[in-house]
Amino acid sequence: THKIIIDTDPGIDDAMAIFFAFQSPDIEVLGLTTVYGNIPVSMAARNALTLCDVAGRQDIPVTEGVGMPWVGPESGYAHFVHGDDGFGNIGFPPSTRDVDPRSSAEFIVEMARKHPGEITLVAIGPLGNIALALRLEPNLPKLVKGLSIMGGAAFVPGNVTPVAEANIWNDAHAADIVFSADWEVKMFGLDVTLFAPTDPKFVDVLADKNPTMGGFVQKAAQFYIEFYSQGRDEKVCYFHDAFPLAHLVQPDLFEFTQGNIRVSTDDLNRGQTIVAPFGTTASPLWTEAKTVQAATGVDHERLFQLFVDTYA
Ligand code: BDR
Ligand code: CA
Repeated sequence: THKIIIDTDPGIDDAMAIFFAFQSPDIEVLGLTTVYGNIPVSMAARNALTLCDVAGRQDIPVTEGVGMPWVGPESGYAHFVHGDDGFGNIGFPPSTRDVDPRSSAEFIVEMARKHPGEITLVAIGPLGNIALALRLEPNLPKLVKGLSIMGGAAFVPGNVTPVAEANIWNDAHAADIVFSADWEVKMFGLDVTLFAPTDPKFVDVLADKNPTMGGFVQKAAQFYIEFYSQGRDEKVCYFHDAFPLAHLVQPDLFEFTQGNIRVSTDDLNRGQTIVAPFGTTASPLWTEAKTVQAATGVDHERLFQLFVDTYA
């Protein structure tokens, strides 16, 4: 089994991903570390507790982490995608459990030291907690097994600006720190997630298979589906955050393109994940760019079958 920590800003597709992880026999979730992003960080932590309640997993620690970008003012939340409560305004009763007293970054460092070489960090929100954990423990890349993220757009346009994907754009300086660290980031960005939409009926199938967790996703996803379906003839649903988790369980579903990537922190193209084509490394800013594995293809049918089988 894969020991993981999920760093998250729940969030509807975060919920899809977290329940997938809870249900997978191949994944052991050591904790949910929360960060601002779709919603403020205090709400992210409360929502992570809610997901544990829904799943009957009150044994899993939930921490609260970074609530602001590394540099500059807040970039605003994504209530228009995820609802006022982050879960499509379904009015789920708040958890009575408390968050863990450790900060998200402290928790990540503590767990990495406790299980050296064993933990995969799966980041499905902005990267402030991971950047802060790197500051607390510069040796973090050696202490963990790997880092997989949902974020970025290597070869396709962005979703919040022409060049930037939301998780990277929300905290570009933190993302720059994380991408520049001494590990090979596995990136599941819009290059792969946007090209594997589902029919919204797919969430009904999940609800059918698993009335508790799938049922929660089904209710919460209605608002999210409306958002993503604006201006289209047919409705669609995206499972962005579930991709890095599916990859842990079935790596052969994915195709990767390797590249040297840097994250822009400049205003106009803030949050762009820029790939250096071979031979364009004249500037030292680029010779330092680290190798990233960017997912650029997925077997849709087997991916969605994996979701169904795992939720069931
Ligand atoms: C990412 O942004 C958030 O809205 C989603 O939860 C996902 O992590 C997609 O760009
Ligand atoms: Ca997310």
